Amino acid sequence: MSSSTSAHSGGSSAVTRQYAPYVEADWGYANHWYPALFSHELEDGSAKGITIGGHDIVIRRSAGKAYALSDRCIHRGVKLSAKPMCLSEGTITCWYHGFTYGLDDGTLTTIVGNPDDSLIGRAKIRTYPSEEHNGIIYVFVGDEDFGTPPPLESDLPMRVNNDPNDNPVAHLLEEGVHIRGIRRTLVGNWRLAAENGLDPGHLLVHWDNTILLALNRALPLGVNAVADSATEEIDIPDGPKGVMNRYDRPDLYQPVLENPKVNMEARGGEQHYFRTSLWVPGSLMVEHWPLTDQVQYEFYVPIDDHHHMYWEVIAVRASSQEERDKFDFQYENFLQPLALEGFNDSDVFAREATEEHYTRFDGWNNEVLCDMDYSIVAWRKMAARHLRGFFESPYQDED
Ligand code: FES
Ligand code: FE
Repeated sequence: MSSSTSAHSGGSSAVTRQYAPYVEADWGYANHWYPALFSHELEDGSAKGITIGGHDIVIRRSAGKAYALSDRCIHRGVKLSAKPMCLSEGTITCWYHGFTYGLDDGTLTTIVGNPDDSLIGRAKIRTYPSEEHNGIIYVFVGDEDFGTPPPLESDLPMRVNNDPNDNPVAHLLEEGVHIRGIRRTLVGNWRLAAENGLDPGHLLVHWDNTILLALNRALPLGVNAVADSATEEIDIPDGPKGVMNRYDRPDLYQPVLENPKVNMEARGGEQHYFRTSLWVPGSLMVEHWPLTDQVQYEFYVPIDDHHHMYWEVIAVRASSQEERDKFDFQYENFLQPLALEGFNDSDVFAREATEEHYTRFDGWNNEVLCDMDYSIVAWRKMAARHLRGFFESPYQDED
């Protein structure tokens, strides 16, 4: 292992400096696309509020299309989503004094109780670019004067065709792809969640997980990199940026099957091929997981500096209703309870338990990383090189 990826000296300021911008990104990376809602959460004629990187955003569906606007009325600052009022197509109305905004550009189009008010047509609420694909509504969040956003695709995981024997899994934007999933608000900085998703060293937290035992899946005590190239950096010009653990390459990763010092031996007899990759601004792709030919995507969307929205999505190709129904049955009775909840609840526990150290004890400068953490260090460096801006605390009384 070269010193560029080795984490032996973790905890020193020299290492921290190699990815200093990442350490500063408490509130997350601005000027990126993030998932906001599942499509099914937003019925036509309704509106819902979310927060991403300190931006309070209301998503309103009108005539089938999802629009994103600031969730702060310009009049007295209440959240529009506190009591959504959708009185006509193409508008959203503030429930308090009736300021009514056009969805296309946020212009104040009328005030319910004063249609001749001099402010009408002259004031605006902020809007955000949004797109909807395969059951997910995405919003581009960041600086108001950023200009034209890059394509959504550049902020999502991509399939990397570097294994001729592999059957490529479904992409989130691909036609004919069916997705199911859940999202939940968790305690913990978004970076701790992202790093946990990639972490090759955390198999121990999954040691007793039902799904692995039920499938008799081989679970080593650890998988350790034997060469620098075990973590592949993917940097597509104007496209996705990520790091991938090449678990598919036995010459790059070797499993640890026993540790006599603690009387532990690997469990399970069924080998299972999968691999993980983590992408800027914070999404994970686990190919061939939970089952072969499926793919689990995760998003770690910053809400504020101590909370993130944890998205878990499983995607499959399903071109007919029959195929979708078949997958839905498997999803509802097996994949959601045993994988997204059972298995990943162990990750949730770990992330929430990590937060205290990084919040109260400056964990970024008081961690002692080991060889197993080298792909996390590779991720931090990659993420530090590709930021388009920081989210900042929106609160007046904070730095
Ligand atoms: Fe929204 Fe007054 S606070 S209209
Ligand atoms: Fe895990």
